[in-house]
Amino acid sequence: MQSRSTTVRDKRVDSTNQTPNKQASKSIIVRALIAMFGNKRARGRTAAIVIACVMMLVITSAKAQGKFGAHEGDVGQKGATRDAEDANGGEARGATALRSTKTTDAVAEIGGFDAHEAHIEVEDARKGNDVDAMEVKVEATEAATETRKAWSDAEADSREALATFKSASKIPSKKEFADGEPLGRGSLTMAKPVPIPKATRLRVLVTGGAGFVGSHLVDRLMERGNIVIVADNFFTGRKENIMHHLQNPFFELIRHDVVEPMLVEVDQIYHLACPASPVHYKHNPVKTIKTSVMGTLNMLGLAKRVGARMLLTSTSEVYGDPLQHPQTEDYWGNVNPIGVRSCYDEGKRVAETLCFDYHRQEGVDIRIARIFNTYGPRMALEDGRVVSNFVSQALRGDPMTIYGDGKQTRSFQYVDDLVAGLIALMDNDVEIGPVNIGNPNEFTMLELAEVVREVVNPKAQIVFKENTQDDPGRRRPDISKAKRTLGWEPKIKLRDGLPKMVDDFRERLNLPKTEL
Ligand SMILES: NC(=O)c1ccc[n+]([C@@H]2O[C@H](COP(=O)([O-])OP(=O)(O)OC[C@H]3O[C@@H](n4cnc5c(N)ncnc54)[C@H](O)[C@@H]3O)[C@@H](O)[C@H]2O)c1
Repeated sequence: MQSRSTTVRDKRVDSTNQTPNKQASKSIIVRALIAMFGNKRARGRTAAIVIACVMMLVITSAKAQGKFGAHEGDVGQKGATRDAEDANGGEARGATALRSTKTTDAVAEIGGFDAHEAHIEVEDARKGNDVDAMEVKVEATEAATETRKAWSDAEADSREALATFKSASKIPSKKEFADGEPLGRGSLTMAKPVPIPKATRLRVLVTGGAGFVGSHLVDRLMERGNIVIVADNFFTGRKENIMHHLQNPFFELIRHDVVEPMLVEVDQIYHLACPASPVHYKHNPVKTIKTSVMGTLNMLGLAKRVGARMLLTSTSEVYGDPLQHPQTEDYWGNVNPIGVRSCYDEGKRVAETLCFDYHRQEGVDIRIARIFNTYGPRMALEDGRVVSNFVSQALRGDPMTIYGDGKQTRSFQYVDDLVAGLIALMDNDVEIGPVNIGNPNEFTMLELAEVVREVVNPKAQIVFKENTQDDPGRRRPDISKAKRTLGWEPKIKLRDGLPKMVDDFRERLNLPKTEL
């Protein structure tokens, strides 16, 4: 208790210790405070003055902002609106001051006036803004009009361009084509297209066309006005067999191995490519069966792809050593599947199977000819086939070799008859084969040797050698199917055909015609 009263007294003592100047200024501040807040009336007046001052500041600021908006005009209606709101706020606050402070009427009136004035100016600003907006609107309208015009011009251009394009790319009607009416529009007039000549000529592929049978077939096809393409690897064939066509624009020669696929646009395929004589096919049996199987597969694939009709030159060897005589097409044969001739015999049997599978499964248009022994010009001189063997031996003055006892039989057709039969089968829209194409006139080997001696060299000797493996004992075609379905039968007798072959051989052996 003692200590607290001491402290208050000490503070009073401290204050009495201040300097006289400080005390004087202190008394002025105190008096002013009393004048301002000393009683209720003084406090009201002070408050009114403070509020009026604040209002003046606000209104002045609003005016300044309003003028700024008016001056700037198109700075933005938003800014002006904000100014108006502020001014309205000032006006409202001024009104509030008028209502709440009766003693500061004049000041409040000034504030209200200024607020009103500011409001008017803000309205002016708005009007000014409207004028600008109007101007902007006019400008925008003009710009929009121009844009619409440009758009519509562009649209018209694009429509015209599309019409020109459609007209230019239009496929002409037959009439337009015939009349030569200009295509396209305006300055873009297309030249009259060059008509592609209708393919009146058949396009024919002959595989193995450089060989004996193939070259004769090519001669006949060229005579018929076909476009002929020969594909040959020249294993047994010779360019000399077809060189007389090389300058013909409708003839084409391609060196090609049918074991590889090929693609040519053709309507028909005569598939002959395959070594045919025992000497040749035994030379490389693996290649022989590959040629038969893969070559036929490739040609069937091509036929399927281009929609061509394909004729396979099969052989009477598919009958093997036949147990049925003569051989009809429905005879299944008697073939050794593992002998030295099997590469050829079985190769052709598989080739036939492939043809029928492609026909049944893929709808390929096939023809199968089973060819019996054929002779004629351009046969290989030393190919091991009996007719060419006898003729070349007789021409050279060598003894004619007969393998076995000479009682085995063969039938021989001249190559022109064979070619006529092949074309008849290819041209036939109903018969797909297999069809025997051969001459049914049957000869023993001894009889054949006698005919050759008679035609070529009466002094020619005959020697007998051991027969080769799997040499068929009898072979004679039943050609009733060919007669019935193709209207075909051979016309050339051995004694008529043989001299033509002899002339060709003599020439190739460089023997004078008169020598024998
Ligand atoms: N001449 C006949 O007595 C006789 C009998 C029955 C069947 N045939 C068949 O007739 C067709 C022709 O026989 P040919 O007597 O004219 O024989 P060929 O040997 O004179 O002709 C065959 C042709 O095929 C070509 N060749 C072979 N392999 C080939 C390959 N892989 N690729 C491309 N070309 C290839 C040869 O170079 C030749 O030009 C053969 O399919 C044959 O089986 C002929």
